[in-house]
Amino acid sequence: MKKKLVFVLLIAVMALALVPTASAAPNAAVNCDQTYTVTAGDTLSTLADKFLGNLKAYWAIMAQTNYKNVEDPSYTLINNPDVLEVGDKLCIPSKADADAILAKFGDPAKGNVSVLFGAKTGGQLVAGNWWTSGGELAAINAVYDLYRAKYPNVQIINAGVAGGGGVNFKGATLTKLQGGDPYDVFQLHAGLEVVQYDPEKYLSPVEDIINEGEGDVMPADLKALLTYKGHMWTVPMNIHHGNVNWINKKIFADNGLTPPTTMDEFFQVADALKAKGILPLAMGGSEGFEQSQTFEMVLIATVGPDGLKGLWNGSMKWSDPKVTDALNTYKKVLTYTNEDRAALSWDQATKLVIDGKAAMNWMGDWADGEFIKAGKTSADYDGIPAPGNKGAFLLVSDGFALPQQAKNKDNAVNFLKLITTKEAQEAFNIKKGSICSRTDCDYSKFDDYLKSSAAEFKTDNIVPCATHGSAIVPSWATAFGDILKKFTADGDVEAAQKALVQAAIDNGVPQ
Ligand code: GAL
Repeated sequence: MKKKLVFVLLIAVMALALVPTASAAPNAAVNCDQTYTVTAGDTLSTLADKFLGNLKAYWAIMAQTNYKNVEDPSYTLINNPDVLEVGDKLCIPSKADADAILAKFGDPAKGNVSVLFGAKTGGQLVAGNWWTSGGELAAINAVYDLYRAKYPNVQIINAGVAGGGGVNFKGATLTKLQGGDPYDVFQLHAGLEVVQYDPEKYLSPVEDIINEGEGDVMPADLKALLTYKGHMWTVPMNIHHGNVNWINKKIFADNGLTPPTTMDEFFQVADALKAKGILPLAMGGSEGFEQSQTFEMVLIATVGPDGLKGLWNGSMKWSDPKVTDALNTYKKVLTYTNEDRAALSWDQATKLVIDGKAAMNWMGDWADGEFIKAGKTSADYDGIPAPGNKGAFLLVSDGFALPQQAKNKDNAVNFLKLITTKEAQEAFNIKKGSICSRTDCDYSKFDDYLKSSAAEFKTDNIVPCATHGSAIVPSWATAFGDILKKFTADGDVEAAQKALVQAAIDNGVPQ
């Protein structure tokens, strides 16, 4: 818990502080009082306590290690003070150096983030994103490694704002854009999510970058999603599958059960597991996107992929009795989930399956990144279509946008060009648990699950995801999310359906 607080603090700093282009780090040789190699169980705060007698001096260890990294890359670059890997090489400052760094950094609530990173001649690249879980961070770090190899003189600042699905990041990003202090590049989804950032006012079109890099090898469904008001505003780097059932194979084998393919089978299997005291379905909810995403899966199982598309475009009405069925089914599904779901993040729920504490987790395939990060293989787990979802591909695609007022424009453009490449997309997606947003990646290098996802993408009915920014305008997506959060808590089917009807009307889709 303490660790999380630390990172949330950095996030507050990232969100509030101006990140100047010139770094405040020293150019003189950096002295390490000691060099320390991380072992299992170490955290920056416990190390700060041990070496400097001050829990809060972890900022100083982070900064000194990052300064040292500029002159000697064998020292770790610490982007996230909450994530240390065994083997990371740290530069522990002397007490005097630590005090000087802490004084420059100032009050952590308003701290000067640039103090935490070294100075380089090529300036900085401030990359805003919400990829802070183990798998997510490993994936974006793989892209940064490629960027660093190509542009060694640029200091990358990973502005990672915790909160899956961008729950905290999106508001912070808008505030920074409006305040004229944007990230140099920032994460967003392909699709209508871009509307909330007023692209014509704040963003630069990126179709030239896309066309030069991946235009010829981009799937048509994705191309269509990317265009808004005659321009593309997002350089995509992946395609996530949003409707996957993650299975702990051992639990199924030990109990002689077969993973369910339909909702009826799900309830049978879930009853059998429940009777044995095993949690059938792990679910998170603290970030507030899990509820509506799970409901999208139940809707696909109930009204079909074309039905779900119809609900968004008005050809099917939210008052339809099948929507009532879906709400009732979702309510029943919840009875097979962990009671503390409102307190768990998505990756904590996935971890229950990884650790053998739950049999299933319905989640996007960013969960695959968590299994990979935990060292699991296809002998341990499987990712199959959520019950009743076979043949439907709930599409979520991540990319980056270019603010008009990016302070390090050239560095930003070079980053966007890099993420269009096959090399960067392979490096990223193998770890992220997604397939490329280009059609020519070499899937022999990807895990078994991703091989199947790539094959399904070619033949499935592609359904843009509402929860993750693709299908509907942000105001509707927010209302949809709020209705599902309320329904998950109170179970009032009639009220939820009424609210779903109203949300469609409010967003210009007559009912
Ligand atoms: C989604 C995003 C994924 C993954 C997930 C959980 O919105 O598209 O890449 O990061 O949130 O954080």
